Amino acid sequence: MIVLFSFALVVFASSLHVKAQDSGSRIKVYANRGDNITLPCRLDGQSSLFGNRIKWAKLEDDSSETNVLISMGLHKKTYGDFQDRVYLLEVDDNDATLVITDLDLNDYGTYRCEIINGMNDKIVEVDLELQGVVFPYSPRLGRYNLNFQDAETACLEQDAVVASFEQLYGEWRNGMDWCNAGWLNDGTVQYPITKPREPCGGVRTSAGLRNYGRQNKSNSRYDVFCFTASLKGRFYYLILPKKLNFDEAVNACKRDGAEIAKVGHIYAAWKLQGYDRCDAGWLADGSVRYPISRPRKNCSPTEAAVRFVGFPDKKQKLYGVYCYKPQL
Ligand SMILES: *[C@@H]1O[C@H](CO)[C@@H](O)[C@H](O)[C@H]1NC(C)=O
Ligand SMILES: *[C@@H]1O[C@H](CO)[C@@H](O)[C@H](O)[C@H]1NC(C)=O
Repeated sequence: MIVLFSFALVVFASSLHVKAQDSGSRIKVYANRGDNITLPCRLDGQSSLFGNRIKWAKLEDDSSETNVLISMGLHKKTYGDFQDRVYLLEVDDNDATLVITDLDLNDYGTYRCEIINGMNDKIVEVDLELQGVVFPYSPRLGRYNLNFQDAETACLEQDAVVASFEQLYGEWRNGMDWCNAGWLNDGTVQYPITKPREPCGGVRTSAGLRNYGRQNKSNSRYDVFCFTASLKGRFYYLILPKKLNFDEAVNACKRDGAEIAKVGHIYAAWKLQGYDRCDAGWLADGSVRYPISRPRKNCSPTEAAVRFVGFPDKKQKLYGVYCYKPQL
């Protein structure tokens, strides 16, 4: 899995820190998938919100915004995906705090609260961060086969979304090193290097995210970095007396009242629950992997990782299976 990236631009760690500090005055909220969370926003002092217009919006990467909730006195309207999941907390007359229930993968990002009363408007920005894990993905077809839309579909099929720059950057700070370039949700193509080496952008470039910049979304093809968050259900290795081919694996999970696990499930269980199992098992995309959180001889001896065996012939009866039981 090695390529020569002669034209890779390096984004240095130091220049990225600035971005983190710029948001220092902003409020950050950390949450898990499935949580109910509150995004704080209130008027100071004696002033009352009565008669003010309150608008909550989510800021998108292309600097457009999506309405979340607009309130004018007793009249309130919620929008799109948020329609049945948001309300104002309204603990007192000054409070415009937003509640979002049942957080999901797409909810992370920056939200803006605007209180408009014509005299002194108030604006608060809140960053919502989801606890999760970023993983690189390439399909059965092989490396560098996904345009942007394929990349979005590939992540969705693995119970994930295309990762943001901040999410990949966070994972790089935790030691992620991956020498294949993948899409991010801002339409750029990047890859994280912690141990600079010749085939991955060169030894003289410093560690960091190597950035190809924005690529043509319809005809450029790369891998993708997906992001997923904590599981709402149970991920497990199905104990069976013999090894299975792919179809048998799918059916074995069904008979157990579950479904064959997705790649996002194995990463979430490994990273967020410390799941460890030294048995190669089928996953829904036809790949075979196993999660190791305690490195040991014969089981990923040098690092904690989700080991990738490959996309074997689906007829081979050589592997076990990982299942996922959604919580109802
Ligand atoms: C979140 O709020 C909803 C509706 O208000 C409630 O039914 C649910 O139990 C809450 N979930 C959690 C995890 O607190
Ligand atoms: C992407 O490539 C297609 C096909 O070559 C071209 O028609 C399109 O204009 C390109 N898009 C951008 C944004 O450059």
